[in-house]
Amino acid sequence: MCGIVGYVGPQQAEGVVVEGLRRMEYRGYDSAGIALVHDGAIAARKRAGKLANLEKALAEDPLPRACTGIGHTRWATHGAPTDRNAHPHLGAGHRVAVVHNGIIENFAALRAGLERDGHELESETDTEVAAHLLESAVQSGATLTEAMQQVCRRLEGAFTLVALDCHDPDRVVAARRSSPLVVGVGDGETFLASDVSAFIAHTRDALELGQDQVVTISRDAVEVSDFDGRPARADSYRAYHVDWDLSAAEKGGYDWFMRKEIHEQPAAITDSMLGRHDAEGALQLDELRITEGELRAVDKIILVGCGTANYASMVAKYAIEHWTRIPCEVELAHEFRYRDPILTRDTLVVAISQSGETADTLMAIRHARQQRSKVLAICNTNGSTIPRESDAVIYTHAGPEIGVASTKGFMTQLVACYLLGLYLAQVRGTKYGDEIAQIVRELDRMPAHVQRLLDAADEVNALAEELSGTRSVLFLGRHTGFPIALEGALKLKELAYIHAEGFAAGELKHGPIALVEDRLPVFCVVPPRGRDQLHDKMVSGIQEVRARGARTIVLAEEGDDEVTRYADDLIRLPVVPTLLQPMVAVVPLQLFACELASRKGHDVDQPRNLAKSVTVE
Ligand code: M6R
Repeated sequence: MCGIVGYVGPQQAEGVVVEGLRRMEYRGYDSAGIALVHDGAIAARKRAGKLANLEKALAEDPLPRACTGIGHTRWATHGAPTDRNAHPHLGAGHRVAVVHNGIIENFAALRAGLERDGHELESETDTEVAAHLLESAVQSGATLTEAMQQVCRRLEGAFTLVALDCHDPDRVVAARRSSPLVVGVGDGETFLASDVSAFIAHTRDALELGQDQVVTISRDAVEVSDFDGRPARADSYRAYHVDWDLSAAEKGGYDWFMRKEIHEQPAAITDSMLGRHDAEGALQLDELRITEGELRAVDKIILVGCGTANYASMVAKYAIEHWTRIPCEVELAHEFRYRDPILTRDTLVVAISQSGETADTLMAIRHARQQRSKVLAICNTNGSTIPRESDAVIYTHAGPEIGVASTKGFMTQLVACYLLGLYLAQVRGTKYGDEIAQIVRELDRMPAHVQRLLDAADEVNALAEELSGTRSVLFLGRHTGFPIALEGALKLKELAYIHAEGFAAGELKHGPIALVEDRLPVFCVVPPRGRDQLHDKMVSGIQEVRARGARTIVLAEEGDDEVTRYADDLIRLPVVPTLLQPMVAVVPLQLFACELASRKGHDVDQPRNLAKSVTVE
């Protein structure tokens, strides 16, 4: 949630900060603001709504030239998305300005204390409390760094704070607890941001901060300490070089990041497979920091994640159980720890998260590790909190995913889940080497299969155009097609804002079939014919909804002629094994949602009420 930017250097800070906010806007777009230090005072602007509103205000009334600045793009938690609640927030004497991501859980008590001391707070936010506390501390003689350390010791919750003090114009100070913050180290300039895409145009050298750390940046220096003021140990934070560049964070000629990311999936699959098997198809997951002995001892796997990542978990359960015979449970991360799950040293918890910052998933893995279970993260964001707090990680190598709706993130989560399942089968000997190699070969063919579906995007787009007035859509699937039905419905809900539901096709007759009415579009994901019973049962389900007037949009593999007569619209899928079918079946559903939302005039990359990274519980 919320994107944060900080800058100290020779460039005009307003330009650098606003450019960074543009790249951070996917994290939240309820309001945006900026503060600079000029001539011993703070100059700030903030506006409700998208960044464009702030840019317009800046164009009409430019800020003075400055070399130090901070900025924020907000996903509202405390207080409505108004100008007043937008960040930055200032201290009582307007000496300190602060931007914040996260939630300060004890803000009500802190606010009451400030008000007793005569402070008047202007907004309904938790952030303003931090601004007043920081300013009180610097007024009492502390440096901004010391003030940040003192204040952070009093805060509860998860937060990233970035602050400047107009009496100290060459420095920006930030702190993090359970919320993302990276430093960009340039040549004579230094950056702070929620993620590296904010400063990737300027530097690819980054520093990932540890938990409960304060960082002070100036043009040429980065100093890291803990909340008690002790210099941080060199191994508690990590310098790294970003292996993608600005072009990966640009739209590259597409109208939406989402559409670009859908079309990047063949490359994303290739990159996620790269180096993970040898020429004979034997898996080599060198980055896995869990020993083979520990993997052999695993007696239960629990897959946790939220939203789309949860649907990747559901697919993973089918594959991993089939290949390894290890019982798998799938759990929404936010439900996990509250039901007191049974966890032992031999439970492997697999946490799936594109961003690596989802607070619900983070809290789930912390709970699992407290119970001594091993945690393996499947994550797309190098250096983010979830992999850092896990025992092992499989990175998905999808490249930056900017569109709020996850597409290539999901696709590569599937790849990582399959690789994990096959690796477990290899280590535990539940599959022969040639069987594993055969599936690996199928996975290697996936980029070409997905590309063929993308080449036929016009057909799906035409269908979306035709159905752009529809108010409701159902999605049906069986087996691995069930999570894909859920994913298709989620995409449509979050982008097109229409009623969309995914069901296991077998469940229809237990209630949902009552929803079917004349011409209701129903997407039906038909399993490959290899599993005849599954296939035939699905065909019966299609007949049932069609008999009640539904318009059936059938996704079936090439050569499956049995379904033709029950399909009002037919979308052909490449012939792949049942367990891998999600990788192809999801593509037309992604294209459909993207196009339908476009046709309805919605902002596909920034759907209403959402944010890319959900860093609050
Ligand atoms: O970054 P994560 O994978 O942890 O995010 C989880 C969900 O918030 C995310 O998948 C969400 O459901 C997407 N908007 C779906 O498109």
